[in-house]
Order: sequence, then C-alpha cells, then structure tokens
Amino acid sequence: MCLIFGAALAPVVILGGFQPRAAGQDAASPGNPPAFRPISPRATLMEWHSQAFDELNAGIARKNVDAADSAWLLAELANVNYFHSEKIDYRAWAGEMRDAAAELANTIRKKRDFNRAGELVKRIKDTCKQCHDMYKF
Ligand code: HEC
Repeated sequence: MCLIFGAALAPVVILGGFQPRAAGQDAASPGNPPAFRPISPRATLMEWHSQAFDELNAGIARKNVDAADSAWLLAELANVNYFHSEKIDYRAWAGEMRDAAAELANTIRKKRDFNRAGELVKRIKDTCKQCHDMYKF
C-alpha cells in the first residue's frame, strides 16, 4: 500500500522540484538578497580553521570557558566552508563540523562539561581528516 502510494506521489514531487522560476525572481534586492557566496580563498579559510582549532584545543586544555568563542568561530568557518563545494559528501563533512562545533560551544559555555568537549573535539578532528582524505591534494 505504501509502495503504491509512494510511486504515485514520486512524479508529483519530482516535477514540483523543477518548476521554472518567473523572470526577474532571482534579481538581488535588499528584500531579496543573493544566495550566500564565500569571497575568501579556501586555502585562507583553512588557515583560519587551523588557528581556531589550535586556540580551541589550548583553551580546553586550560578548562577555560572562553574556548567556547573559538568553538563558535570554528562553527562559523565550517558554515562558510559548506558553500565552497556543491559535492554532497563535502557539504556533509562541513555541516557535521559546523554542528559539532556549535554543540561544543554550548557544552563548554553552558554545561562546562570538558569530558564531552573532548569527544566533540575528536569528532571535529575526524571531519578535518575525512574531508582532507577526499578533497585536499
Ligand atoms: C569539508 C571539507 C574540509 C573540512 C571539514 C576541513 N578542510 Fe581543511 N582543507 C580542505 C580542502 C579542500 C583543502 C585544500 C585547500 C585548497 O588549497 O583550496 C584544505 C586545506 C587545509 C589546510 C592547508 C591550507 C593551505 O594553506 O593550503 C589546512 C591547514 C587545513 N585544511 C586545516 C583544516 C582543519 C584544522 C580542519 C578541521 C578543524 C579542516 N581543515 C577541515 C577541506 C576541508
């Protein structure tokens, strides 16, 4: 039953996704800003990833709650990095890093849970490596 319903619905969903836009709809204006686009080179963005990550680790080692600010910086850098590629896995890793860093900021500032912070730092480090293994040459 569900399968039949799904098959009947699929063409509607697919067609719905490809509806042409009306002319002029994409024009940027204050009420209709353009899609976000990073302006700095990715290598520079990555140097900042490194700096923020080092700062974050140093802050956590000192159990300093201001390390939360480095976590937020890292989350925002990942948020920008997301737009450096349209590849699904690239965006998944950037998104994972953004979310882990945002959770980390709250874990440090609000919960002051430095054990959990250590786990989240490891998750962030894993996403650096996973993305680099695939995309950094
Ligand atoms: C979603 C993908 C992705 C994630 C996540 C990511 N990177 Fe990168 N990184 C890249 C790519 C692609 C390059 C190659 C950059 C280039 O030359 O355009 C790179 C390059 C670098 C470089 C070399 C920059 C240079 O000067 O050439 C450093 C350092 C770096 N990353 C640090 C990090 C750190 C630290 C993290 C995690 C906290 C991280 N990156 C997470 C994709 C990623």
